[in-house]
Amino acid sequence: FPMSTTASESPHDSRTDNPFPPDIQRDVAKRRTFAIISHPDAGKTTLTEKLLLFGGAIQLAGTVKGRKSARHATSDWMEVEKQRGISVTSSVMQFEYHGHTVNLLDTPGHEDFSEDTYRVLTAVDAAVMVIDAAKGVEAQTIKLLNVCRMRDTPIITFVNKLDREVREPFELLEEIESVLGIECAPITWPIGMGKTFRGVYHLLNDRLLHFAAGQERRSESERLDGLDNPLLDAQFPAEVAKLREDVELIQGASGPFELAGFLAGRQSPVFFGSAINNFGVQEILEALLDWAPPPQERNGGERLVQPAEAEFSGFVFKIQANMDPKHRDRIAFFRVCSGRYTPGMKVKHVRLDREIKLANVLTFMANERLLMEDAVAGDIIGIHNHGNLHIGDCLSEGEALAFKGIPYFSPELFRVARLRDPLKSKQLQKGLQELGEEGAIQVFENLGSGALLLGAVGTLQFEVVAQRLQTEYKVDAIFESADIYTARWLTFPDDNTRRNFEREQLHRMAKDVDGNAVYLASTRYNLEVTREKWPGVAFHSSREHG
Ligand code: G4P
Repeated sequence: FPMSTTASESPHDSRTDNPFPPDIQRDVAKRRTFAIISHPDAGKTTLTEKLLLFGGAIQLAGTVKGRKSARHATSDWMEVEKQRGISVTSSVMQFEYHGHTVNLLDTPGHEDFSEDTYRVLTAVDAAVMVIDAAKGVEAQTIKLLNVCRMRDTPIITFVNKLDREVREPFELLEEIESVLGIECAPITWPIGMGKTFRGVYHLLNDRLLHFAAGQERRSESERLDGLDNPLLDAQFPAEVAKLREDVELIQGASGPFELAGFLAGRQSPVFFGSAINNFGVQEILEALLDWAPPPQERNGGERLVQPAEAEFSGFVFKIQANMDPKHRDRIAFFRVCSGRYTPGMKVKHVRLDREIKLANVLTFMANERLLMEDAVAGDIIGIHNHGNLHIGDCLSEGEALAFKGIPYFSPELFRVARLRDPLKSKQLQKGLQELGEEGAIQVFENLGSGALLLGAVGTLQFEVVAQRLQTEYKVDAIFESADIYTARWLTFPDDNTRRNFEREQLHRMAKDVDGNAVYLASTRYNLEVTREKWPGVAFHSSREHG
């Protein structure tokens, strides 16, 4: 296996020419921060549970007896969190594995799919993409991969459920390449599938991994001296010819795995397995340790920030409101980008230009210790706050940094907010402004009618906002459907064009919480027509915070 890359090209701080603190360098190099992306039901939860088992982050009494007991363990842990009044379940899971500190960030899916799902991906250094081998590339995988692509995040692919009758592996790889536009480099190759799934052949180290359903730990593997080994004929008389043929095809058809291509987000190493049977899971973990990058430099606006710098910095990528109506507490999820967090440290809130003290910061390790004592680049810390921290906010040790690349995405669902009690319109306005600034939902004000519009990427966002309006602002609002297909942020070549555009399109224009101009298209056709008519105006499907 190639060696993993180091945290930084140079161990020196180019601003001062001083070496980076060695303890920070060492700890940063150990970090691996990643997320699992998948379409619902592909096996993300199952894979997460198996990874946590490997890392010892969850321990099950006795042996693992499949999903039922695993689920039980997870729900116990949720109960603990409920008692402590926080709800950060499985948002971030940190565990140690083979001398590394692994941070696994959850990407909310199913009903709780929201903008957070996208934003989490701005806080990771790599992603594992789970594909259901029977279904191939699905809608949500495409969306999430497109977000990864904005930062060229390295992707490891896990093709899951080989214990079932699934699609042909070659066909799946072709689909990944053509639909997702990422080159596939198979690392393991399946021998059979479904009832005749025998295991995988590891193309890089010439090993055979035997599959046995319901296994608890890693599978037995044996080294082959080449694929013409007669041992194979003896063990798998029915499958061996196909395996040899497949491997020849792979070697002719796909390029070999190249670390540089993976790190640049162009090529994805592909593993086949069965998460529920814990088969192929350890290989994923090892690929993460060996190949996925440790925290890298980040664009801090003013300059590039190196992860091993002495000064602490980072940004908020997600806000989770505590649903306890008595408290307006929120937890801001903060990705450390440089330096070291120590309890009680004072940092600068760059946007508010104010000093704040970081005490009682949470970690999300799935054991008893909940108070964070130490964090370096790549780690996620949870900061309690009462609304002062918004998505994209930066904390530093004094420098006016502004980390780039935490986008707002064009919402896919729209609602018009209407009050049951018209006298509460001030509160509604205030509530929506604050929730919009915090990043819970996107809020637009129609320039023509003045109506307040809410935009989201998942329906749960509307429910959360309705509930928070009620508990935090005492506003009873109903959200009605709006005749909007999508929104685009606008930039104009000059003021004259802007005025002309506004004159003609006022009823389809809005401003967001930060005052940016937005076009509200009623249909895809409407968007195309308007674009054609105004070639000088740029229509953007995302924008950065701030
Ligand atoms: P998600 O988080 O991506 O939505 O997927 P999840 O892990 O919940 O898995 C979705 C379903 O696929 C589950 O079945 C799970 O047991 C199953 N599954 C996951 N990995 C494998 C695998 O390697 N092989 C097979 N055959 N199935 C797998 P379910 O019926 O929804 O739940 P349950 O009844 O198993 O608990």
